[in-house]
Amino acid sequence: MKLYLCLISFILCYYTVKCVQPYFPSQIVFSPDNGVTIIAVDEINQRAYKAITMSSYAKEISYLMKNFPGAIPDSPQSKYYVQLLVDSPPENCIYGTYWKYGGNTFNSFPSHWTNGTSYEITNYIKFNYEMIHSDNSSVDEDYWYANEKCQVDGGESYPCEEIYFKKNTEMPLRSTRVARGGWSVFQMITYYKVISMEKPADKLFDSIPAGWPIACQDVMLGLLYYPQTSKVDLGQSVEVQVWLITPPHRINGNDTVSIQWKSSECNDCLTWTPKQLSFNIENFQERQTVTITRIKNGAETTLTPTFTGGGFDLVTPYNYRIFIK
Ligand SMILES: *[C@@H]1O[C@H](CO)[C@@H](O)[C@H](O)[C@H]1NC(C)=O
Ligand SMILES: *[C@@H]1O[C@H](CO)[C@@H](O)[C@H](O)[C@H]1NC(C)=O
Ligand SMILES: *[C@@H]1O[C@H](CO)[C@@H](O)[C@H](O)[C@H]1NC(C)=O
Repeated sequence: MKLYLCLISFILCYYTVKCVQPYFPSQIVFSPDNGVTIIAVDEINQRAYKAITMSSYAKEISYLMKNFPGAIPDSPQSKYYVQLLVDSPPENCIYGTYWKYGGNTFNSFPSHWTNGTSYEITNYIKFNYEMIHSDNSSVDEDYWYANEKCQVDGGESYPCEEIYFKKNTEMPLRSTRVARGGWSVFQMITYYKVISMEKPADKLFDSIPAGWPIACQDVMLGLLYYPQTSKVDLGQSVEVQVWLITPPHRINGNDTVSIQWKSSECNDCLTWTPKQLSFNIENFQERQTVTITRIKNGAETTLTPTFTGGGFDLVTPYNYRIFIK
């Protein structure tokens, strides 16, 4: 009977080892660098938080959530995942929304959570190999290692990925990964300091800046041009197509952004028409044309936009200049 049970448990274990992969707890608050960075992951409620202490007074906090509190009703930010990054002091905040006209220019969280336009908070670690559970490694740790070895500079080989948990618990202790850093390949070890393995406290999310949809910059608001740089001879014209990456925001019921341009270097070399373009939520992707004509020879000239409305107040005009040689 005893032998029979052993046999069954052996078979169970064998298949368990074969199919079960090691996972990070689905709700956890931890530090991967001895307290400098605090990360909170809540797969169940689809929320994540990451705070980095940059110095005794400066910090950077990222929040990622579906149903972000404080979003303007009916806005894309109220319906899709938003990632908000707040640097302080002085407070500077930016965000991106993950949807078909969205995405982001920054990501503070694991890259396997997003494909650019959509997001999902899944396990914190994604192993690239099948992981094998070792049952003889230590009395107080559970050890898992990749089914393949990777060679580092110097010639040694290690399992490509490893993770250690406190024995018979879900508590991660450390993980390793053979990684490339610059020109070298080495085994990178991350030690985890676990702060809690339950629902991350709501108070972590209390520090989200009030009025963030307007007070912070939506990094996807901006212009597209074709072409952005042209050579125009005296008396000649170029047609520049202009459109937006993502819809303007509806602010107090008005979703129109108006765009005008100012020339620098040579103020009377170029003339253009129309003098103003407007885009709204309906037509933001329809290309409108600005015809730029050279009326005097002179220096290479830059046209810098100014924006009115549509949530563009924080968009940097410098990034959306037109260059005419
Ligand atoms: C991202 O994933 C979503 C949902 O799975 C999918 O609909 C979308 O096409 C993907 N986008 C890209 C760029 O792969
Ligand atoms: C565990 O067992 C494997 C296979 O028998 C062996 O190669 C390995 O050296 C052992 N590890 C330790 C830490 O005893
Ligand atoms: C909406 O905003 C645009 C750009 O600021 C402005 O030109 C327009 O007059 C506004 N429309 C209304 C109805 O207020």
